[in-house]
Amino acid sequence: MNVINAQNLSKRFGTHEALSDINFALPAGESLSVVGPNGSGKTTLVRCLLGLLAPSGGLASISGKPYSSAHHVRVGYLPEERGNFQRDSPLDVLRLFGRLRGLNHKDASTRSYEYLEEVGLMRQARSRIQTLSNGQQQKVHLGLTFIADPDLLVLDEPTRGFDPVNQGLFRDHLQRHLQRGATLLLVTNQMHEVEELTKKVLFLRKGRLHFFGQNHSAKEHLGRRTTEVTYTGQLPKDIERWNLNVREPGKAVMEQEHGLHDANRLLAGLLAAGVEVTDFNSRLANFEEIFMSIYGDSAATGSLVA
Ligand SMILES: Nc1ncnc2c1ncn2[C@@H]1O[C@H](COP(=O)(O)OP(=O)(O)OP(=O)(O)O)[C@@H](O)[C@H]1O
Ligand SMILES: [Mg+2]
Repeated sequence: MNVINAQNLSKRFGTHEALSDINFALPAGESLSVVGPNGSGKTTLVRCLLGLLAPSGGLASISGKPYSSAHHVRVGYLPEERGNFQRDSPLDVLRLFGRLRGLNHKDASTRSYEYLEEVGLMRQARSRIQTLSNGQQQKVHLGLTFIADPDLLVLDEPTRGFDPVNQGLFRDHLQRHLQRGATLLLVTNQMHEVEELTKKVLFLRKGRLHFFGQNHSAKEHLGRRTTEVTYTGQLPKDIERWNLNVREPGKAVMEQEHGLHDANRLLAGLLAAGVEVTDFNSRLANFEEIFMSIYGDSAATGSLVA
């Protein structure tokens, strides 16, 4: 059963087409990163999926029907803007959200304390949220999202403002929710999060779907392979056929588009020619490199800003 389903989903603001013809589905228990440059439509997509914006065309559904507050799927949503509850305390707001999401008084209280303890906010439990630092406020808002174990987590840039320690804390916490079977839609521009937190990725480009699929398939389809060889001795005379670029003495890189098969043939060819290979590395591009290859040039000139 698909928890998230977008069919020809479009959203216009005036004459500006923020989302055009988006199609994808995410089954229960799976995890997806939504990636794209600023203004590419990520938040608009999330808002359409959760019924906070009415689509201009197409359909957005959660477990088979448009999302509304009466929906049977319990959603934990961390919005992009998080300025709410400034005058309340973390403890009060966490308990309130626990109650609103169906926990009894005792469980809402216990979970609130457990969360505050886990994220190191016990000392600030009764302070006004407005007196907390940016990252601390962020932790409170994530707590509101996670409390009562939602079926679907929709997180819009959850680690913005987190230091590396808190990023790790967030990762561990999220992993526990994924292990219990929660479905995850994560909006992020942190490419290491795509790698570490989700199995699938959706790239948006000017409001259009550029790629949707498994992480490994994104790497195969969107990323170049890089093959580097370190060696001693002379390269064979017919070296041109390998498209090797000697960057410095004893170190060469295979240029041009190539697959693992070509990399293996190169290695075999070098060994057969008597070259002593001291290091050999062939790898697919990581998501950082893929992001730059999709958006790099045009982002620099601003032409991708939707
Ligand atoms: N309520 C709105 N009214 C008019 N235009 C809007 C509205 N919301 C978004 N837009 C426009 O739609 C486009 C996509 O915005 P969106 O917030 O979805 O981008 P984003 O990918 O989430 O960007 P960021 O990475 O900066 O958060 C932008 O050009 C934005 O100006
Ligand atoms: Mg956004």
